[in-house]
Amino acid sequence: VVVVHNGIVENYLELREWLVSEGHTFSTETDTEAIANLVAWSLRRGRSLHEAVQDTLERLEGSYGMVVMAASEPHRIIVARQDSPLVIGVGPHGRYAASDMPALLPLTRDFVVLENGEHAVLEPQAHRIYDRAGRVIPRESVRCDWTPEQAEKQGFPHFMLKEIHEQPDVLARTAFERCLDLEGDVSFEEGFGLSDAALRGIGRLRFMAMGTSLHAAMIGQQLAGALARLPGETLNASEFLYSAELEEGDALTVVVSQSGETADSLRALREVKRRGGRVLGICNVRGSTLAREADHLIFTHCGPEIGVASTKAFFGQVVALYLLAIRLGRARGVLDAAEGRARLADLRGLRHRMEALFEPPALAAVRSAAEFLAGVRSCLFLGRALQHPVALEGALKLKEISYIHAEGYPAGEMKHGPIALIDPDFPVVALVTPGRTYEKMLSNLQEVRARGGRVIAVAASGDAKAAASADFLLPVPAVPELLAPLVTVVPLQFLAYYTALLLGRDIDQPRNLAKSVTVE
Ligand code: G6P
Repeated sequence: VVVVHNGIVENYLELREWLVSEGHTFSTETDTEAIANLVAWSLRRGRSLHEAVQDTLERLEGSYGMVVMAASEPHRIIVARQDSPLVIGVGPHGRYAASDMPALLPLTRDFVVLENGEHAVLEPQAHRIYDRAGRVIPRESVRCDWTPEQAEKQGFPHFMLKEIHEQPDVLARTAFERCLDLEGDVSFEEGFGLSDAALRGIGRLRFMAMGTSLHAAMIGQQLAGALARLPGETLNASEFLYSAELEEGDALTVVVSQSGETADSLRALREVKRRGGRVLGICNVRGSTLAREADHLIFTHCGPEIGVASTKAFFGQVVALYLLAIRLGRARGVLDAAEGRARLADLRGLRHRMEALFEPPALAAVRSAAEFLAGVRSCLFLGRALQHPVALEGALKLKEISYIHAEGYPAGEMKHGPIALIDPDFPVVALVTPGRTYEKMLSNLQEVRARGGRVIAVAASGDAKAAASADFLLPVPAVPELLAPLVTVVPLQFLAYYTALLLGRDIDQPRNLAKSVTVE
């Protein structure tokens, strides 16, 4: 019996004890082994593989996306799902199972998504889906509009590098068709489903996400405040479950998730709904659990993201959140048509301005900073306001793929602790872009330098003051303040990439990390 299992069997100790008393032996400490032994127990009693898996599912408590095979029925695979995602690929030459669609794109673009509590029998030319009671469930397959080429490296040495380079296209795909340039407004597809009246009725926003998506969500909150005057908060989705159960009232919760399968984000979504609230999902994967369970939806059009360290998905999320803030501002009468037009023109103009980020001078600057950074053990990323989440994101990128310890901080906090760490081997990466926080950031740089610290500054190209206060300057084009995160994040992604490259790390699949974290 072969079992592939994603999830946690909560009652495995109990099951294991019983199976041992039935004469089974275990060779690992894993919960998954209990599943394999349960299936074997039923097979030995003359049950078919399908029946044996059904018997097993009845005894399991916890979460699973699983695939079961047995030597006795080599032409058949049984798959089952409870709280962990599972999709079935339907191809001309076979049936396939995976946690999400990108994994199967080289094999097929037609998918059937399994719902909670369902299982299915796969054979080379057929599949049947069953509910818990064993009734057959008819279900059409859906076609994924991603192409297999999108899931290939196309000449880049790593997916991460390819995905960083795709960001200007992600801007165009996620935003441009939705821009109503003349009206100065934004039009989302049908799945958005929030009328002007509904948008006016929102009293506050709550953003929730995990990982990189959490950093995009923090930016989204600030954008909604600036462009729609809506108060909001941003929470780590896993923490929301423990928050006091307050009235949802006129709140709208925005759950941001690239995969739409992150277990903590989905738990939070369900908890909001249980408390009577409404959820808008911002998501990159059609057919994902978030896309199916959210009340309202905005898709980012990033294409499949394969590198574990998220880059273009973050970019697409911030673009979508910027559009959302404009739509909210227009519907609520905070932005008039002229202001809306100006904000959209800023966004359209960004594509051209971003080009400099990928040109040789910018990349040469990043590479020399990376050579320095590859030799340190620890560093600090600082930013203020909209650049604070970018600092968190820059630190996350670096630690994820280079394994160098990095902390992101709002620059104002520096004096309250991190400054004690500054020395020549503990550098600071600082976001010093034009706008309200510029002067304060410059004085932070002075404070770092006065203590012998080295500075890598991300600043507008040609900024002589920032250059004078930094050991390395990563130039970015000058753009309107609200859009600055979309340009400053790019050199930080490159910085992490080139540092990890110098250290010989596994860039697309860093140790201990997963693309979608489907267990809590
Ligand atoms: C994992 C990934 C991150 C991602 C996070 C949230 O930790 O490695 O890159 O940001 O999950 O994923 P989501 O799919 O919900 O955006």
